[in-house]
Amino acid sequence: MTSLPLAAIEVRTGRFVMRATICASMLLAMSGTPITAQIPDEFQNLRILPTDISRDSLLRVMRDFSFALGVRCQYCHVGGDGISFEGVEFHKDDDPDKRKARFMLRLVANLNNQVFPLIPERDDPPRQIECKTCHRGLAKPVLLRNVLSSVLDQHGADSATATYRRLRESSGMAGVYDFGEWETNTLAEELAAQGRFRDAIAIYKLNADFYPRSSAIAGSLGRLYEQVADTAAAIRSYERTLELRPNHRGATERLRVLRGQ
Ligand code: HEC
Ligand code: HEC
Repeated sequence: MTSLPLAAIEVRTGRFVMRATICASMLLAMSGTPITAQIPDEFQNLRILPTDISRDSLLRVMRDFSFALGVRCQYCHVGGDGISFEGVEFHKDDDPDKRKARFMLRLVANLNNQVFPLIPERDDPPRQIECKTCHRGLAKPVLLRNVLSSVLDQHGADSATATYRRLRESSGMAGVYDFGEWETNTLAEELAAQGRFRDAIAIYKLNADFYPRSSAIAGSLGRLYEQVADTAAAIRSYERTLELRPNHRGATERLRVLRGQ
């Protein structure tokens, strides 16, 4: 989703300051749509947000939660059919995610108000943490390599590479995951360190499709093919490394050894 930062509101209580960035698309989505008609004007169960908060301000905070976590309102609020707001019981605390979100509100307030002011030689103006700083559009704030490594553990390398391609296609522009070369190389290195050479090769080969000019990937593939005793593939990888970086000392040396020169 592309959205332009338009304004920021600040909700203040004695304990708590929160900034919610409002995006143009959110305001459009919120203005007078029939969906919001089912949301009450008065709130019964606010424990962190100020109890006299206006309906508009509360909705902005809630929209911000939804965008920060990439979820619908019903992710935290029980009742209804999960699509319309008919029958949603916003005041209830039955969903554990709502209770977690409340904890997170306290966490963010504590970080911004108690912890970060202690940073030595802090930036001026100071920076604030928001839900999105960690969540980046994900309900569970995980890194690309965490996602891939759990798919890999459960379903193997083919599924992990398919997941990477699918995520890259669907969320590439949103900044949810880091598709830079090193995030994925790091996963491959972690696998190699665990002795999972074939998995590491699969991940490096995948990354080479997107970073075909990376000598780091080609060199690492050479080293891993040696680990699995595939000398022909190791030689090809080191040759490729030298095409990309003619003075690569490691590749030159390994080629000499492998060719028995
Ligand atoms: C990540 C979880 C989460 C999401 C997503 C979320 N909310 Fe909430 N919502 C909360 C929490 C937590 C509170 C209670 C805050 C407090 O205790 O101060 C709350 C409170 C409310 C209340 C006040 C209920 C009352 O009477 O006390 C309304 C209304 C509400 N949310 C509407 C929405 C709408 C509409 C959306 C979608 C745009 C939404 N929420 C998305 C967590 C969430
Ligand atoms: C400092 C980083 C950080 C910030 C800031 C943060 N969260 Fe979280 N959040 C996490 C982590 C880590 C988890 C996973 C915790 C666990 O291991 O169960 C999580 C989990 C959650 C969950 C449970 C999701 C699920 O599917 O299990 C909700 C809901 C949530 N956060 C809401 C919020 C909201 C709302 C905000 C802003 C008020 C926020 N978080 C700010 C780090 C953060």
